[in-house]
Amino acid sequence: AFEVEAVASGVTVQVEEGMSIAQALKAAGVKVNVSCEEGVCGTCISEVLEGVPDHRDHFLSDEEKEDNDQIAVCCSRAKTPRLVIDI
Ligand code: FES
Repeated sequence: AFEVEAVASGVTVQVEEGMSIAQALKAAGVKVNVSCEEGVCGTCISEVLEGVPDHRDHFLSDEEKEDNDQIAVCCSRAKTPRLVIDI
């Protein structure tokens, strides 16, 4: 599990195995825009302010993934214990 702070919403959640960041945030009452939920469409791409994403999507290019400043919250996870995102 890892922690995600949604700065704009003022909410911090634990993301357990088997649950996506988007699902964890929604369960905490945060509105998250998702569409495909499979890492393809890019609807859920959000800005990363702190932490390193574990990219699992097929939307961002390799260069964008290396920049570590965007994440597909429907499917990607975290390599660091904590991610701070602009949702
Ligand atoms: Fe489509 Fe996340 S909802 S990439």
